[in-house]
Amino acid sequence: MAATDSARDIRILETAEEVARAAADYFIETADKSISAQGRFSVALAGGSTPRRTYQLLASEEYRNRLPWSKVHIFFGDERSVPATHADSNYRMAEEAMISRLPIPEPNVHRIIGDGDAVANASLYEGELKAFFDGAIWPRLNLVLLGMGDDGHTASLFPGTEALNETRAWVVANWVEKLKTYRITLTAPAINHAANIVFLVAGAGKAERLAEVLKGAHNPRQLPSQLIQPVSGSLVLLVDKAAAARL
Ligand code: 6PG
Repeated sequence: MAATDSARDIRILETAEEVARAAADYFIETADKSISAQGRFSVALAGGSTPRRTYQLLASEEYRNRLPWSKVHIFFGDERSVPATHADSNYRMAEEAMISRLPIPEPNVHRIIGDGDAVANASLYEGELKAFFDGAIWPRLNLVLLGMGDDGHTASLFPGTEALNETRAWVVANWVEKLKTYRITLTAPAINHAANIVFLVAGAGKAERLAEVLKGAHNPRQLPSQLIQPVSGSLVLLVDKAAAARL
């Protein structure tokens, strides 16, 4: 049974499996509405480990026949500086869990190129988004899925990094000193112009940081997840009991 914090749509679910299922249901509902209204559905997938189960569910017998996948456009919120075949690739994770198991036309899969020149790859991806959202000042993705790291980062918006100051670009190559690597990521303004944003947060390891992000002082330089505030859209947090332990 989900408990909801009315001010901010925080839905606390018993288990990580229930979080995954609630995210899959939200994906289907939002896609349905978008396809009816616009003839297509654009979603930016989250990376990391938490969303994998949601992607597996969407490709399962239970969910796969609920959408005309030919109208679904898959984007990514961020990517690591690795090839698409690498174990750390967000694309590979989503491809194995979902994309390869659904009839999504290849041109509808808008992958971030991770290997090679990160700055060039970021600008390439921004170009692809700008072509898709022809002439828009900011992209209006129908849905953005996000995770939260135990340091409070989301997408690849890490504490103390340059990308946190971005006010114009849609996509940047963000140098993450603590990982000694570039990450390619949507910027906070690009995410915040989405119609629907959903955080998936599970596990006791996230409890302390999640409480800080939601109840602590506003300090987005140290807690970048606090930067996520939709301009004119909805924000839902799907959280399991373990991660909500300090709320
Ligand atoms: C990434 C993600 C990142 C992720 C968090 C949480 O590329 O790693 O986009 O923002 O969502 O790190 O990761 P977990 O789900 O693995 O805890």
